[in-house]
Amino acid sequence: DKEEHLQERPPVVTIMGHVDHGKTTLLDSIRHTKVTEGEAGGITQHIGAYQVEENGKKITFLDTPGHAAFTTMRARGAQVTDITILVVAADDGVMPQTVEAINHAKAAEVPIIVAVNKMDKENANPDRVMQELSEHNLLPEAWGGDTIFVNVSAVKNEGIDELLEMILLVAEVEELKANPDKRGRGTVVEAELDKGRGPVATLLVQSGTMKVGDPIVVGNTFGRIRAMVNDVGRRVKTAGPSTPVEITGLNDVPQAGDQFVIFEDEKKARQIGEARGVRARDEERSQTNKVSLDDLFD
Ligand code: GTP
Ligand code: NA
Ligand code: MG
Repeated sequence: DKEEHLQERPPVVTIMGHVDHGKTTLLDSIRHTKVTEGEAGGITQHIGAYQVEENGKKITFLDTPGHAAFTTMRARGAQVTDITILVVAADDGVMPQTVEAINHAKAAEVPIIVAVNKMDKENANPDRVMQELSEHNLLPEAWGGDTIFVNVSAVKNEGIDELLEMILLVAEVEELKANPDKRGRGTVVEAELDKGRGPVATLLVQSGTMKVGDPIVVGNTFGRIRAMVNDVGRRVKTAGPSTPVEITGLNDVPQAGDQFVIFEDEKKARQIGEARGVRARDEERSQTNKVSLDDLFD
């Protein structure tokens, strides 16, 4: 694959941290601050992931709870996260789920950026957060370490640009690349059965490109992409690396963490999809889901 045409791709970011430390509020704050209102659908989020632009560069956020993203998806062999934001409330400090989050990220070898949140609170104590995280080997740059800390207030929308700039900085160091010029593949972020539209799945493209009309195998399901909708509810025809889109056209509902592959040949996609579906029904789901789609690549 030496001749692969690798191109820079946006980082895929998840947010982790202790309960009530402000993960959801921070995700909302980033979206509201950065998604331009002229976009179709405005600031209404349509799928469980969104993209923002900072200094002309895109960043993809997954709003799957960080823990689920790591545990469910990793259990299926999928790694979707490039960078994790560890949210720690400045008035509360390091708590059990903070430590759990650190352990998940370290096990997955995903770089951590610390967002010290709730800086607007009177009893905010960012020094204490730095102290406590140092004890977990997250030593701030300010203290000679290499962990980036950014002070933010998700409710006051403060520190958001700096946080996004730091994400882009880490992304640059990570040299995130993918080849857009091949058949798309990636991972299911979430999926459900919609009464009107049938199975709908939010997919994160990790390499290659997929298009409306493409035959596809998703976990143990298959189909032909009938329609694609992006994070602001706009219909799109193609989706490249690090892009989240919602698709319809599958014969059944796949599961979060399932991998997907685009095919050129609809017959082959159907054959493989049907075989996988049958096998899934025969075997225990948990076992079948460990079967990766790697064997489908030439
Ligand atoms: P779980 O999903 O339940 O784990 O919580 P979470 O981490 O998503 O926290 P959430 O965003 O729901 O925020 C919890 C509470 O903290 C809410 O009442 C928020 O309004 C509040 N909160 C979040 N960010 C800030 C902040 O920057 N400043 C202040 N003062 N409050 C905040
Ligand atoms: Na909460
Ligand atoms: Mg939340």
